[in-house]
Amino acid sequence: MNPYQKLLERKRTWTPVQTTAGTVKEGAELVLSRALALRHMELPVGDFINDALASEVPEMARELLVSNVKDEEKHDLALGYIANAHGVDEKAEAEALRLRDAWTSHPDHTITKAMVAERAIFFVLLPLMRFTGDGGFRTVSADISRDEQIHVAANSLVHTELGYNISPSLDKLRKATINWVMQPLSASNPDKYLNKKFWLDSSDRLMYEAKLLSLLPPELAESQRSLNMQIQTSHSTLNIGLTVERLLEELEDMFPPSQPTPETPINQIMYRSGQRSIVDFIKSRIEEN
Ligand SMILES: [Fe+2]
Ligand SMILES: [Fe+2]
Repeated sequence: MNPYQKLLERKRTWTPVQTTAGTVKEGAELVLSRALALRHMELPVGDFINDALASEVPEMARELLVSNVKDEEKHDLALGYIANAHGVDEKAEAEALRLRDAWTSHPDHTITKAMVAERAIFFVLLPLMRFTGDGGFRTVSADISRDEQIHVAANSLVHTELGYNISPSLDKLRKATINWVMQPLSASNPDKYLNKKFWLDSSDRLMYEAKLLSLLPPELAESQRSLNMQIQTSHSTLNIGLTVERLLEELEDMFPPSQPTPETPINQIMYRSGQRSIVDFIKSRIEEN
């Protein structure tokens, strides 16, 4: 079974329902209304995937991606119910629509945009909703999070397989978006869930450290691995005349842990850490045995 099928099999269906408004954490009202306003990005993210489906995605990813687009419609509906229950902040809504347009018109590949939005925006907003929202927010956050784990894995696989890049300007847009959401919070609030820095750092970490494997349940992490490396072997000699350990030594020499300076361009940092994460994986895989 290929990794895309495995991801598809993991899906669980759920049905959005109208909730009633409960009490949210004091001090989180404004930030929640901004996070909620970004529900306007759910359908565009679905469109991003549709665009990709119209062109060059791997054949075996198609069924999964089509089902992911349907999930986005559900996310839009579920968050719309929350918006009905709590009411919306008109100014936040208008600003969110402008951000949405910036994402839509950004020139990076649509799969890459979906991946970045899900990984470094939604994976911040969903926990924010969970830790500061009421019961309705919490339930919807849990349901959407399960879907998004699969989406991020799927989009990352396609993004990697097709060799796309994340441009520095997309990263700027990511920062602008998350900064806008968190703007009502202060950076000195002792409650971490109401601390601006806590959430901004979390977005940066999800973006740069890209520890996707640790975000995923073990079974999904496994499918991610199996696509990245087809080495299904133990410590025996590979048919290129090398032991796995010797190959690891060579990889360690070729791709040491990177030591970026403030001047290192971000795409270079990401490229290096991507290379390095494969070496780290092989290392841990050998140690497991
Ligand atoms: Fe979504
Ligand atoms: Fe998604």
